[in-house]
Amino acid sequence: MQLFTIFGNPVSHSRSPLMHNYVFKKRGIDACYTRTQLSDGSKLRDVFFAKGLSGANVTVPHKEAAFGACDEIRGIAKEIGAVNTLINENGRLIGYNTDADGFIATIQSFGTLKNALILGAGGTARALATVLRRHTIEPVILNRSSGRLDYFSENGYQAYSWETFTPDAYDLIINTTSAGLSDDLLPLSAPLLTQLLSRSRCAIDVIYGKETPFLHEVKRAELPFKDGSDMLLEQGVLANHLFMHGTVSTDTIRPIMQQSFLY
Ligand SMILES: NC(=O)c1ccc[n+]([C@@H]2O[C@H](COP(=O)([O-])OP(=O)(O)OC[C@H]3O[C@@H](n4cnc5c(N)ncnc54)[C@H](OP(=O)(O)O)[C@@H]3O)[C@@H](O)[C@H]2O)c1
Repeated sequence: MQLFTIFGNPVSHSRSPLMHNYVFKKRGIDACYTRTQLSDGSKLRDVFFAKGLSGANVTVPHKEAAFGACDEIRGIAKEIGAVNTLINENGRLIGYNTDADGFIATIQSFGTLKNALILGAGGTARALATVLRRHTIEPVILNRSSGRLDYFSENGYQAYSWETFTPDAYDLIINTTSAGLSDDLLPLSAPLLTQLLSRSRCAIDVIYGKETPFLHEVKRAELPFKDGSDMLLEQGVLANHLFMHGTVSTDTIRPIMQQSFLY
């Protein structure tokens, strides 16, 4: 039996086991996908091999640690510096990032966008900034603190901390912070968020499965919005395609995985 897991902290909220196990079951694949709570990201590689895993996903806060744990990085993950999908290729750990392309698939329904404000500066923010720029949607980064902004400044992005930010108009506002994930916090001050939403066209919270305080404010502002469910599905479809070493098309995986959302 092939074994897969998702590494994270927290990880109990993750729907990935349900999504991947549903696909394995429906397609008669002898595989099992579990959750692994990991507090120390530096242990990720050792735990991966000790568990005899064929592959894994990585969630908050270990995507940058996962990048450093790999023998080889492929695709857009090289540019992002964060990995959310790991494959065991003959004892070598190969890292990919499926969040980026998964996100682009989800914003198609918003129509043409010129720019986007990304709240947060972690692994997900890096993924979205990289892929948005590739699709000529100019990203601007706004983070609570300045520590993680160097990566963005060094790569030519406009990147601000709460102290240095001056509000502007953005087509899309994206919450990539973990504020609202296991607390009831907004990702920035309420007055500033209200001001930004009043000048925005649409919004996304990448958190899924709950109405975060951010999404609550977006609804009050009556903007078109999405939570993270579509992105979750699309990144999961791409990850499952990699778990199966590309032998099953994403068009085959997608409708099956989508059914798992009904449970
Ligand atoms: N839907 C999907 O498929 C999908 C895919 C990927 C990620 N996600 C979600 O995206 C979120 C972020 O993941 P990640 O891997 O990028 O996390 P991460 O690397 O740990 O980064 C977290 C970011 O959130 C900020 N932050 C944390 N608490 C905050 C608060 N109370 N107020 C303001 N900012 C706060 C941090 O700011 P500091 O730098 O100041 O600490 C940091 O910029 C998680 O909720 C994850 O579940 C969803």
